[in-house]
Amino acid sequence: MSSTSLLLISSLFLASWFCATEAQSTIPIVNGLSWTFYKSSCPKVESIIRKELEKVFKKDIGQAAGLLRLHFHDCFVQGCDGSVLLDGSASGPSEQDAPPNLTLRAKAFEIIDDLRERVHKACGRVVSCSDILAIAARDSVFLSGGPDYVIPLGRRDGLNFATRNETLNNLPPPFANADTILSSLATKNFDATDVVALSGGHTIGISHCSSFTDRLYPTQDPTMDKTFANNLKGVCPRSDSNNTTVLDIRTPNKFDNKYYVDLMNRQGLFTSDQDLYTNKKTRGIVTSFAVNQTLFFEKFVLAMIKMSQLKVVTGNQGEIRSRCSVRNSGYSYLGSVVEEGFETLSELI
Ligand code: HEM
Ligand SMILES: *[C@@H]1O[C@H](CO)[C@@H](O)[C@H](O)[C@H]1NC(C)=O
Ligand SMILES: *[C@@H]1O[C@H](CO)[C@@H](O)[C@H](O)[C@H]1NC(C)=O
Ligand SMILES: *[C@@H]1O[C@H](CO)[C@@H](O)[C@H](O)[C@H]1NC(C)=O
Ligand SMILES: *[C@@H]1O[C@H](CO)[C@@H](O)[C@H](O)[C@H]1NC(C)=O
Ligand SMILES: *[C@@H]1O[C@H](CO)[C@@H](O)[C@H](O)[C@H]1NC(C)=O
Repeated sequence: MSSTSLLLISSLFLASWFCATEAQSTIPIVNGLSWTFYKSSCPKVESIIRKELEKVFKKDIGQAAGLLRLHFHDCFVQGCDGSVLLDGSASGPSEQDAPPNLTLRAKAFEIIDDLRERVHKACGRVVSCSDILAIAARDSVFLSGGPDYVIPLGRRDGLNFATRNETLNNLPPPFANADTILSSLATKNFDATDVVALSGGHTIGISHCSSFTDRLYPTQDPTMDKTFANNLKGVCPRSDSNNTTVLDIRTPNKFDNKYYVDLMNRQGLFTSDQDLYTNKKTRGIVTSFAVNQTLFFEKFVLAMIKMSQLKVVTGNQGEIRSRCSVRNSGYSYLGSVVEEGFETLSELI
């Protein structure tokens, strides 16, 4: 397993590096972010994070998916400002592992704060939690076999909690069809190619039954491959079964283009995945990624760099948190709002 991924990583290295430099020169970046932000204040930040994540993923590669998804949620709700990392409760961090129905992996939050501790030990409190999460997501992609690329840095951690409504309005549900996803993401300036590329994040990771059993019960979704559906019914005998299954049945832990091959074989897990192949606006893009992984990697990198800059907090706004789960100014009195948001999120997702 690890020698296969090593091989894959080394064979990708040259092409990926080229891709990274190209991305760096052509992608517009927002005011306040920079490709070399920590060059003098914390030159080792990226190597510290990568080295540590290599160790973490050697033990459990599933955490890569958890970190990638956490960055996506951070960026989509209120911007990449670390708001997703904030504890909803004044009673402290134990709250984070309390709700079993919170489908963001509890461990991902711990990994981010552990990275924060290592980075701050080396450089002092100069690197934000939102930057650490952005770097960790990039490394999750690369260390799972995907492309390597440079991301602009300099995000600061926001002071505001995301509300329940913001969470609901900004994260489309898995039962949404492609038209809904397209119009939802268009409000953030993503085009159809971005949408199909970003959805390729589902080439790694897992889902709980509750996120897709609407496609099995009471009526089976006719666009779903029959054998695939039967196997899913085995994993989720009831619509509320407490079980999980992989998002990409071909190569569940490898960041590659097989997710698109799944879609072409009607083995996409969510409606929001499968409908990208059914819908005429996105079908051709799915096919092009399924036959050309280099093209997928190229478009994925562009879309991720775009996503990683959504409504970032820069300059004198925001802060560098000394713990990722709390604002420096102290505990929140809006805790219940956040918890509500999380609860709603987990019902939906
Ligand atoms: C386009 C709309 C999207 C929808 C509707 C969606 C929905 C979901 C759902 C329902 C789950 C499973 C949650 C669970 O039941 O445990 C999931 C997991 C995941 N999503 Fe998405 N997602 C979307 C976009 C993205 C994007 C843009 C990324 C990253 C680039 C991403 C990365 C992931 C990953 C890596 C997982 C697995 C997490 C894990 O294993 O812990 N998703 N997504
Ligand atoms: C979520 O977990 C909490 C306990 O942490 C429980 O009270 C609640 O009923 C659960 N909600 C769902 C939808 O499972
Ligand atoms: C949340 O959204 C709903 C419907 O979109 C609206 O009725 C409600 O007033 C909103 N609540 C807040 C606190 O903004
Ligand atoms: C969970 O999935 C496994 C197959 O992966 C299945 O054998 C088991 O019965 C499922 N458990 C529940 C509680 O649904
Ligand atoms: C669901 O299963 C997980 C282990 O896979 C367990 O930790 C958790 O307590 C279970 N939740 C419920 C509500 O049964
Ligand atoms: C695959 O995509 C890459 C990147 O856009 C392109 O350079 C290459 O020519 C494509 N390969 C094929 C066989 O079409």
